[in-house]
Amino acid sequence: MIYNENALILAPLSGYTDIPYRHSARRHGCRYAFTEMIDAGALVFANKRTARMTERAPDEQWLGAQILGSEPTTLEKAVKILNQCNFDVIDFNLGCPAPKVLRKGEGAKLAENISKASRCIETIAKISVHPVSAKIRIIDENDPAPTIMLAKKIAEAGAEAITVHARIKENFYSGTVQHHIIKEIKNALQIQIIANGGVKDLQSYCEIRTKTLCDKIMVARGAMGNPWIFSQISEDRNTPPSPTEIADEIQAHIEEMASCYGIEKGLVLARKIILDYLKGKGFPRQLKTRVIKISNIQELNLFTREIRELSHLSPCGRRSPPAPPCPAPAKKTPAGSDLVGVDNIVPEQP
Ligand SMILES: Cc1cc2nc3c(=O)[nH]c(=O)nc-3n(C[C@H](O)[C@H](O)[C@H](O)COP(=O)(O)O)c2cc1C
Repeated sequence: MIYNENALILAPLSGYTDIPYRHSARRHGCRYAFTEMIDAGALVFANKRTARMTERAPDEQWLGAQILGSEPTTLEKAVKILNQCNFDVIDFNLGCPAPKVLRKGEGAKLAENISKASRCIETIAKISVHPVSAKIRIIDENDPAPTIMLAKKIAEAGAEAITVHARIKENFYSGTVQHHIIKEIKNALQIQIIANGGVKDLQSYCEIRTKTLCDKIMVARGAMGNPWIFSQISEDRNTPPSPTEIADEIQAHIEEMASCYGIEKGLVLARKIILDYLKGKGFPRQLKTRVIKISNIQELNLFTREIRELSHLSPCGRRSPPAPPCPAPAKKTPAGSDLVGVDNIVPEQP
């Protein structure tokens, strides 16, 4: 089994889920996390930036690597490199909708060619010393059959778990999350199915669990600028972070980026991360426009001090509406369960 019961997983996020990003999530209780998507070809051809993506900090308890590719020989070589690293799972990307990925017949495009996608999984599973999983999108919004077929074939090929992002590739990251398709896939397969799409707070977390019957949930954009989502869900509460908590988190996260990448590059990469932390929390516009000007640690210190001084905004900005009680009689946390506050969710019956 790859995941314990009630696992809440930080998604692979290209351009985001590096070590500082994962550390920030882990400070708030995230156990399961992934690297950014690693291009198999770039890894094999010794691209320095790609090699860096395979790094795992010594304090990371659980880490999955995600790879992207479509050529069995390249995948084979890439997996041999990943075999030298310490990972808990190797996840194969069959869901990326980016045009440059689709043009190469990879990601969500490869998923349309079920036999080729299965051959890739077979190759990875044969070589990998780590367990293998896959991340897919749904193929049809109305008919679960094609996605069930894909999931079955890749499970037969060796995937021990499958994450289903319940949006079609044409919808990229918007549009309705088709919970019912995830539920059908879960019913049809024996392996672990992880539900993904639209989890941004306790309420949407409860909704996806109830509607998909899955207890393993992956969160992506809901964790951007919001590592507190992990503790909010595990502690079954909606309390937003205070300006001081936000300032402390920005300070720790961005200082780590600066020490990982060097001050200059680190602070440029940090801009979108800082803006994510400020988004939707009621901070004044002029604070956001200053982000671009932070070019050394002293300026970062001043910036976070200003955020702390805005504590009259506390609790921060827009409050999420109270989550409806997760529909459940309370019961004890089962052994091996990762969440304390939400194990009493009883999914809707099929
Ligand atoms: C900026 C960004 C980068 C992403 N990078 C990856 C990636 O590297 N690998 C992957 O499988 N999915 C990637 N995704 C998709 C997410 O993992 C997730 O499936 C999707 O955002 C839906 O979940 P959400 O509605 O909770 O955001 C990315 C999404 C975004 C917005």
